[in-house]
Amino acid sequence: MDKILIFDTTLRDGEQAPGFSMGTDQKLEFARQLERLNVDVIEAGFPAASPEDFAAVQQIAREVRGPVITGLARCVPEDIDRLWEAIKGAESPRIHTFISTSDIHLEHQFRLTREQAKERAVAMVRRAKSYCSDVEFSPMDATRTEWSYLYEVLEAVIDAGATTINIADTCGYIIPEEFGELLQGIWTRVPNADRATLSVHCHNDLGMATANALAAVRAGARQIEVCVNGIGERAGNSSLEEVVMALNVRKDYFGGYGTTINTRELAQASDLLTLFTGEAVQANKPIVGRNAFAHESGIHQDGVLKFKSTYEIMKPEEVGRGESRLVMGKHSGRHALRVELAKLGYELGTYDLGVAFAHFKDVADFQKEVFADDLHAIMRDLAEPASTPVAGPTHAHTH
Ligand code: KIV
Ligand code: ZN
Repeated sequence: MDKILIFDTTLRDGEQAPGFSMGTDQKLEFARQLERLNVDVIEAGFPAASPEDFAAVQQIAREVRGPVITGLARCVPEDIDRLWEAIKGAESPRIHTFISTSDIHLEHQFRLTREQAKERAVAMVRRAKSYCSDVEFSPMDATRTEWSYLYEVLEAVIDAGATTINIADTCGYIIPEEFGELLQGIWTRVPNADRATLSVHCHNDLGMATANALAAVRAGARQIEVCVNGIGERAGNSSLEEVVMALNVRKDYFGGYGTTINTRELAQASDLLTLFTGEAVQANKPIVGRNAFAHESGIHQDGVLKFKSTYEIMKPEEVGRGESRLVMGKHSGRHALRVELAKLGYELGTYDLGVAFAHFKDVADFQKEVFADDLHAIMRDLAEPASTPVAGPTHAHTH
């Protein structure tokens, strides 16, 4: 298998989003989970941003072994020096530095000319290189940068020693096909491109962060920057679990490119992040959401009961979840009811499935989900037909 490196920035881009900040101990524990996931690079924070972030990055660099440890630095000497101070104890340190290259950022935010931005990038990559052989450079807002200028900057920073060039779709603006073309241009228009690893960093403002990352793999990117649960600035970044499982499930399409992520740790990583930040993932979130392996409708339940792959393209165990769930509700069918009742000890033949199903539908109309104790109550009512009618909120579940 040809390897796609997974660069996790949950503790930097993810953590800087509103509501997602974590303390040093939590960051360290989360970094250990990233180690268990076997990510290739951990971006542990932005040391120049605060003394607390500096301390967290330094501790992770000293204690976490295996992945490359990096942090973020603006293209200013103080940030580069501070970052180096924080990560120099790492087994494999990397300096990651960035500057904007789009006219909209250069004119309205940084008040720099294109030439000045390029000179600064080159100077700071050189400074980074004086500390560390592994240097990543990101042109911020690259996807809204004039392509020929972007290629010029990339050539210059690779000459200055950058070993990874990371094309940032900072505002989640680009479309997958267009991104593929932009990246293909690097191979033809940046003469020294083969001396660096091509990486991408995609935001999700238009819901295309994962699709863009995958288009990038097709165009030669060999490092993808991601966050667990897809967290990050605004609408977030490419989701680690989505990118990894897409490459995994669609090996046929990606021509043998894949990651060495331990996918059985994905659910634990997602749950730990939710625990530390108090921010739940939506029920329908791919891979890790509550409904990712749940089936309520009768047709789908019937299918998965007969053969799992009818409606599941991956196994829940592969991502660290237990069995897929049959959720009993008003869309459920007889097949699932029979199976659920059998699990509770009600063997077919000892009751009338048609009658049980009619009672079940009455209850399901009153509540979103029908739980085991509701099913027991239905079966009790069937056995004692003179008792209280089954339909109605008297069966409200206790879960
Ligand atoms: O979104 C972005 O441009 C970034 C860079 C600093 C890589 O997070
Ligand atoms: Zn970002």
